[in-house]
Amino acid sequence: MLVTGPRGTKDILPEASGNWQYIEQVIRDICRLYLYKEIRTPVFEHTELFLRGIGETTDIVEKEMYTFTDRGERSLTLRPENTAAVVRSYLENKLYADTLLNKLFYIGPMFRYDRPQAGRYRQFHQFGVEALGSKGPAIDAEIIMLAVQLLRKLGLDDLTLYLNSVGCPQCRPIYREKLQDFLREKTSHLCSDCQSRFERNPMRVLDCKKEKCTEETQGAPHIVDCLCDECSTHFNHLKSLLTLAEVDFKLNPRLVRGLDYYTKTAFEIQYAPLGAQSAVCGGGRYDGLVAECGGQPTPGIGFAIGIERILLALEKQKLLPVFSNTIDVFVAPMGIDMQGIAFKLLCNLRENGITAEMDFMEKGIKWQMKQANKYSAKFVAIIGEEEAAQDKIMLKNMLTGVQELINIDEVQQKIELDVEA
Ligand code: HAM
Repeated sequence: MLVTGPRGTKDILPEASGNWQYIEQVIRDICRLYLYKEIRTPVFEHTELFLRGIGETTDIVEKEMYTFTDRGERSLTLRPENTAAVVRSYLENKLYADTLLNKLFYIGPMFRYDRPQAGRYRQFHQFGVEALGSKGPAIDAEIIMLAVQLLRKLGLDDLTLYLNSVGCPQCRPIYREKLQDFLREKTSHLCSDCQSRFERNPMRVLDCKKEKCTEETQGAPHIVDCLCDECSTHFNHLKSLLTLAEVDFKLNPRLVRGLDYYTKTAFEIQYAPLGAQSAVCGGGRYDGLVAECGGQPTPGIGFAIGIERILLALEKQKLLPVFSNTIDVFVAPMGIDMQGIAFKLLCNLRENGITAEMDFMEKGIKWQMKQANKYSAKFVAIIGEEEAAQDKIMLKNMLTGVQELINIDEVQQKIELDVEA
């Protein structure tokens, strides 16, 4: 059907776009406070980047990518997330040459062939931040604070920050083996996805939302008990920094995240009232990703927030601002012959920063007055033939109802005086 958009996509209609601008403004203000600078990367990349970056055995790569071959026989993919692309851009543009620590943010559409439902779409929008260059836990704490402060600023409560460490290439294989030992005799009770995860990506079994799998994995060993000294010190230091900053968190040993690049810190912020799609923010450290993409080993950490989910949460808590649509002046020509004078006045007013509208439908004065009311116009500038012949217009103050015949070149001054008052 030509009049239906593809499944899982949504139009942002004019009455909703103010909400998006509002959220984006709060995001930009926070990023300014924290000195994160905006980066805009293309919406498609070479498929290889995501295969290498996100991991070939992840759900995203196995089931959710929009991959196509272009006319030059290249395999391209609409970005399912933006961390790998930011790392690609960081390397390609040698951002590391300017500063030791790059603090970047982005806002934009991502694409995943997910099963659409409330809060889950095939084209959705993320606000994400990435800090590249520091291996210490203080930057982890800053990144988490940024997410927390943003959500607080928007007024959301009922949020829970879950924290875990997923170790590093040194300690994770030991945990992986321990977990496989635990799962081995349970595999036949797991769902078919988890049965195949057992060999390829056993930690993902812990993350499965199916009741049977959750039951079977009760009592599974915790990765935090297997961390090497470096990972363990990092995690403890992060927890103490968050405590100092008075950020509440809950340790969640099952939090493994759905992307393979994570090392050490993994976190999620959930807004429980959203039910199945309660994860509003997810992130973590990815100390191996830059090297995986061909750069010098460089640590990194970041998160992404789903903007649609934030909007749902704000709607639920009735926190969306009310936008006014009011204008200063409605210019009303009485008849088509007056249109030229009306248009000139309209242009002058707008050039001087006065919000103004006029009738483009060539209707009568009654209809135009109704329009002016619809816009809650402060003034209506009525242009009739007789008045225009003397370079005058009738200016009606819509609040007091007072009408005044004034020179056309005085309109702006009159309105400015009133608007200032
Ligand atoms: P992610 O957990 O896959 O992480 O996604 C982050 C957030 O995007 C989710 O918590 C959710 O709010 C939103 N989201 C994901 N999928 C959908 C969907 N289909 N519809 C609506 N919203 C969705 C990442 O993408 C990582 N790149 C985050 C990151 C940045 N890690 C380090 N740096």
